[in-house]
Amino acid sequence: MEVVLTGIKPTGQPGMLHIGNYVGAMKPAVAASKNESAHSYFFLADYHAIGGDADAMAHSTLEIAASWLAVGLDPSRVMLYRQSDIPEIPELAWILHSVTAKGLMNRAHAYKAAVAENEATPGRDPDQAIMMTLYSYPILMAADILMFKAAKVPVGRDQKQHVEMARDIAQRFNHHFGETFVLPDAVIGDNIATLPGLDGRKMSKSYGNVIPLFAGEKQLRKLIMKIKTNSLEPGQPKDPNDSALYDVYRAFATEAEVSAVRARYAEGIGWGDMKQLLFERINAEIAPARAEYERLVANPREIEDVLRHGAEKARAVSRPFLAEIRDKVGIRPLAR
Ligand code: TRP
Repeated sequence: MEVVLTGIKPTGQPGMLHIGNYVGAMKPAVAASKNESAHSYFFLADYHAIGGDADAMAHSTLEIAASWLAVGLDPSRVMLYRQSDIPEIPELAWILHSVTAKGLMNRAHAYKAAVAENEATPGRDPDQAIMMTLYSYPILMAADILMFKAAKVPVGRDQKQHVEMARDIAQRFNHHFGETFVLPDAVIGDNIATLPGLDGRKMSKSYGNVIPLFAGEKQLRKLIMKIKTNSLEPGQPKDPNDSALYDVYRAFATEAEVSAVRARYAEGIGWGDMKQLLFERINAEIAPARAEYERLVANPREIEDVLRHGAEKARAVSRPFLAEIRDKVGIRPLAR
């Protein structure tokens, strides 16, 4: 069965997930995980996130795990685990270092961007403050992917190169040590809904225009009231194709609800009324998940148990596979 695998980095920013992540990535991933013809792996990439504020990162791990569970990811149907609970992953990463050319890592966009930033500052060393965790990030990511023989890796466009590097590394290993790894492909969600944010630009943490997924009801309403509109008055017909409110509404609503709203645009619905309608629609969908999220965040023990159990399931795969890999590279007992 084909393995679909994706990692989420607990960056340490509180409230990192927003409604754009929900409709663009989380909702489709949860739907796909119910598909019997693929095997889904989800993990919290905490080894990828170390180096910043430790407490913030630990809390972000809790928040993200709680968010995925709250929106309906079913840990009995998928593999859900924390990267750092799988010691085979860093061990594989080290082994993969032996087939990864330094030149390949030199070409990684994230590393190049950090060097370029240093070079733009006169008198700075090009590698100033660049840690080895950044430099070898693609190797650890390759280990995440190759460990579980993932064929498909759904990621944002910014991660495409990393998946291609994992493929290169896998090929190189297979060539040296014999057919071992599945060659992964990135799946870029080009056709997935990208939501406009409060200012009409793409909703993104870096633009500061997001609606947090689990904003409280009051804050949710307040933020929706801030979404940019034009200055047409109530009663004047409005164009749904030039309206951020409509784009957001459409991402949540059924076809029937969408055509009803199009009719109201034609009749000249006031922006205030449309905002109220949008608030009610989003809130109706999010409220149960929000309640479950709040319950889970207040019960870290429950999430810890889910993650530990997930790690046991994942290690049932990674332990024997790593044993095979160790043997292939010559790490073997001297006598049986
Ligand atoms: N690097 C990814 C990101 O920043 C997270 C990640 C780590 C990942 N390991 C992965 C994604 C393996 C897919 C597969 O978003």
